[in-house]
Amino acid sequence: MTLRVLTGITTTGTLHLGNYVGAVRRAIAASREAGAESYFFMADYHALIKCDEPGRIEASRLQIAATWLAAGLDTERVTFYRQSDIPEIPELTWLLTCVTSKGQMNRAHAYKGAVDANLAAGEDADAGITMGLYSYPILMAADILMFNAHRVPVGKDQAQHIEMARDVAQRFNHLFGDGQDFFVLPEASIDEEMELLPGLDGRKMSKSYDNVIPLFEGGAKGLREAIARIVTDSRLPGEPKEPEGSHLVQIYDAFASPAQRQAFREALRAGLAWGEAKQQLFELIDAEIGPMRTRYEALMAHPEQIEAVLMAGAAKARAQAAPLLQRLREAVGLRRFRPLAAPVQVATKTKSALPVFKQYREDDGQFYFKLNAADGELLLQSRGFAQGREAGQWVARLKREGTAALAEAPVERAAGLAAGALEQALDALAAAAAAE
Ligand code: TRP
Repeated sequence: MTLRVLTGITTTGTLHLGNYVGAVRRAIAASREAGAESYFFMADYHALIKCDEPGRIEASRLQIAATWLAAGLDTERVTFYRQSDIPEIPELTWLLTCVTSKGQMNRAHAYKGAVDANLAAGEDADAGITMGLYSYPILMAADILMFNAHRVPVGKDQAQHIEMARDVAQRFNHLFGDGQDFFVLPEASIDEEMELLPGLDGRKMSKSYDNVIPLFEGGAKGLREAIARIVTDSRLPGEPKEPEGSHLVQIYDAFASPAQRQAFREALRAGLAWGEAKQQLFELIDAEIGPMRTRYEALMAHPEQIEAVLMAGAAKARAQAAPLLQRLREAVGLRRFRPLAAPVQVATKTKSALPVFKQYREDDGQFYFKLNAADGELLLQSRGFAQGREAGQWVARLKREGTAALAEAPVERAAGLAAGALEQALDALAAAAAAE
């Protein structure tokens, strides 16, 4: 079975080295594994939740798309798209919203965090909180469930959202699945080691700490300058340095082979100067991302090329999303109105099992009718009529009115019938007549 891996990046800024190591590089490596089918996308609907600057949204999604491509994403192999190019995603979001409990959304970290901050500041609990923020996890669940992803590589802070996606998938399957499951239950994949690429000051690399090493911004010069600002202890050149616990070494490790890691540690213990260590770190990182930077700059000079790649990706993604969404719409009852072909068929089917009136003339010259069950058993026998038309009228009335006409009709119930058998037969006929 193919393992479907899916992840998205919110497009509010540019990617830094920590994003590259923690998300982009990992995801691209995973996409090359046999048996994996990958979906990567720009979560630009999510970006709107955090950002109301159109220019920033526009720049960010372009830069992030260019970064994925420059980093070696093979768009023949993977499905690569912008969330906002897939209208099935917001549509699915609504179907999921209708089966998501509000209480669970109250507990979502991002929303709760914002509420707590408001309360701490003495404000109204919901001050400045949009429904976008509140429903954020449902949109994310739709991202994941739309493509029935098995595995979702995310940072630790997103683990709760994957749990929520599982819950809502389960609930939808239960409510509408009718024995078949629409959605796979996704699992988070969290790589703790890579998650924690430290920033310049040793804390997690993050824009909000201003401790970021840029990925492509500022070119090689920007990379070198950032590395120069990595905080180290104050040991002098020649003094032995302890590599374990140094975040400079941790960053080095993220780009080094095992042999390089060992050699770097030995050099530090032997007194390598921090300045020299930083030069080695720069060379190591630039050997990996330098060629990517060249591709990145070429792509950024031709946004129309990126656009073409993304539109092809959207077509590929929608080819998969649209049929699933159609099934889901059917499942919840949003169906096309069709001619009543199906019910009529049902009626003709039961017709063959219905009792049958037979009209005939006896040797006495009178007209009679009788009712036989589908299996031929006699249910009812009429008296004789002088006119065939009279017999026909009674047959028509019994067919139309069923049991209601029985008391008045000049007929006799057949002997030895099971209780209610005649009534049942007549009512079945009346029901079939009504359906016609
Ligand atoms: N919320 C994720 C983040 O901020 C981005 C994201 C949106 C995502 N949709 C997703 C990640 C679906 C994985 C799967 O990091």
